Amino acid sequence: MSFPSKRLRRLRTSEKFRELVQETTLNPSDLICPVFVQEDLKTRVKVESMSEIERLPLDDINDEVGTISDLNIPAIMLFGIPTKKDDLGSSAFDENGIVQKAISQIRKNFGDKMVIMADVCLCQYTSSGHCGIIQGEKIENDSSIETLSKIAISQAKAGIDTVSPSAMMDGQVKAIRKALDDEGFSDVSIMSHSAKHRSSFYSPFRDAAECAPKFGDRKTYQVPYTNAREAIREVETDINEGVDIVMIKPALSYLDLIAETRRRFNIPVAAYSVSGEYALVKGAATQGWVDEKEITKEILYSIKRAGADMIVTYFAKSAAKFLQES
Ligand code: PBG
Repeated sequence: MSFPSKRLRRLRTSEKFRELVQETTLNPSDLICPVFVQEDLKTRVKVESMSEIERLPLDDINDEVGTISDLNIPAIMLFGIPTKKDDLGSSAFDENGIVQKAISQIRKNFGDKMVIMADVCLCQYTSSGHCGIIQGEKIENDSSIETLSKIAISQAKAGIDTVSPSAMMDGQVKAIRKALDDEGFSDVSIMSHSAKHRSSFYSPFRDAAECAPKFGDRKTYQVPYTNAREAIREVETDINEGVDIVMIKPALSYLDLIAETRRRFNIPVAAYSVSGEYALVKGAATQGWVDEKEITKEILYSIKRAGADMIVTYFAKSAAKFLQES
């Protein structure tokens, strides 16, 4: 009789043994919680396509950040929904804009007890719903990065820790870094959506943030999901331009790129588990087809295992809760 010469099951014999050899960990401190704040809103509004996610009025922001902080989640990612949109996206860099107000309020209340990050993009703020300034039907790169820099400055003035450009314009990190430094904000860090893919996983977010493009799509600026080398070039370019944290987005269908980025570069890597990833789980869990908690764990651990240091996820609060229970 031939016996197996290697018995990997030996290390799986008990819960304690499995704990001892566990390679990947997940903690609330790995999570970044997205927060939607809407101008002129009186009460919280549920996002139809993302169960348990809400848009908040400014008055509720401190409560929400308090809840997030009590769960030991160290960071939030703010998204604003303005009342007025125009061609230049001017409410995005208004010093009294909704995100700027939220930032200063949180900073005042929480001091350095919460890392405040905010999206730097134009699509919620432009009439076109595009992430840049348009000329005709063209999304203009160089005027867009000027505007993105203005947004970053206005957020820095309000007290931001980390600006997070997600417009996928060439040179956005360099322009923003220079603008921040010139204005005396050299301590403000940049977490760029470095390899943000043109993805159908964003559709629930467009419902949450009212930022669907009015014409065309985002194919001229977001990375095609067929091109891994191009994605890595995006990451490399951001690093050369002085980014502090790179991000791969979405997460679950892009684990190969998270792993490749971790292997190649010595820089913190964030993964953004986007709205569609959340909605798929929620949809199936509501039907009773999957166990929400177990599948969420598996997804988040996989993203960590691939090499992400931190995860932006709509599961942040629920995951922090179950991580603290176990
Ligand atoms: C654009 C932006 C988008 C997301 C984050 N920032 C939408 C887009 O590019 O269409 C998507 C995030 C998600 O789906 O959770 N500012």
